[in-house]
Amino acid sequence: MAVNGAVERLVFLGPPGAGKGTQASRVAAHLGLVKLSTGDILREEVRQGTPLGQKVEGYMKAGDLVPDPVILEVMEAAMTRAGGKFLLDGFPRTLGQAESLDQLLAARNWSLDAVVLLEVPDEEIVERLTARRVCPRCQRVYHLIYDPPKNDEVCDECGTPLVQRPDDQEEVIRRRLDVYRAQTEPLVAFYERRGLLRRVNGQGEVEEITRRILHVLGEA
Ligand code: AP5
Repeated sequence: MAVNGAVERLVFLGPPGAGKGTQASRVAAHLGLVKLSTGDILREEVRQGTPLGQKVEGYMKAGDLVPDPVILEVMEAAMTRAGGKFLLDGFPRTLGQAESLDQLLAARNWSLDAVVLLEVPDEEIVERLTARRVCPRCQRVYHLIYDPPKNDEVCDECGTPLVQRPDDQEEVIRRRLDVYRAQTEPLVAFYERRGLLRRVNGQGEVEEITRRILHVLGEA
């Protein structure tokens, strides 16, 4: 945390579909942080067909995690570009990534201010993700029922036709939930032991959840 108490470095943790991306955009804007979403960064590489994109596409489509060394390289560069003030959405996701993040931060004399865990039950996750639509251009996220675009499946911000993510098929969602339980959930205890974990109920209105997050961060 900065000398004046401002929050500078956050991690958002939670199962797929918990609302990490939705809330990360709002909270990062409120706190003046750069949102670094591993999923968005990797999907853009896939869309552009870069060598990195070709390497990660198969893992993402299957709902599996991309190997740690690939993610670490991408995130180290992104955090440096962000000048040390960032909100990490979707990273770290394994104990190995969390330990590497510690080393990376320590080498720069940085530390995490908090880790926000968004909690949502599995049944609601499947409902959220099967009706999610995203803008492939500006990355804005919609939900066909809870947060629909104004015009039929076209982005409100940039007019681009919305798409469904290939990993938002029910079978792949269930696989992603299994991967979360096996590989990412151990991070809850890891950050709880360090006194960094802030649990937030991820069910309810989007605005209300943003208020809850800012409250646990001492920012509202
Ligand atoms: P990533 O893109 O990070 O996917 P994820 O963690 O599965 O999370 P999602 O983006 O699905 O959900 P979210 O929590 O952001 O929810 P959202 O706000 O969109 O990762 C994708 C893949 O990339 C991974 O499977 C892996 O292959 C790879 N990858 C990424 N990071 C990696 C890493 N560190 N290591 C290795 N591999 C990695 O909301 C979901 C829906 O719900 C939306 O439709 C939204 O409108 C709606 N919604 C949001 N809030 C509410 C609310 N309060 N009420 C009702 N609906 C809501």
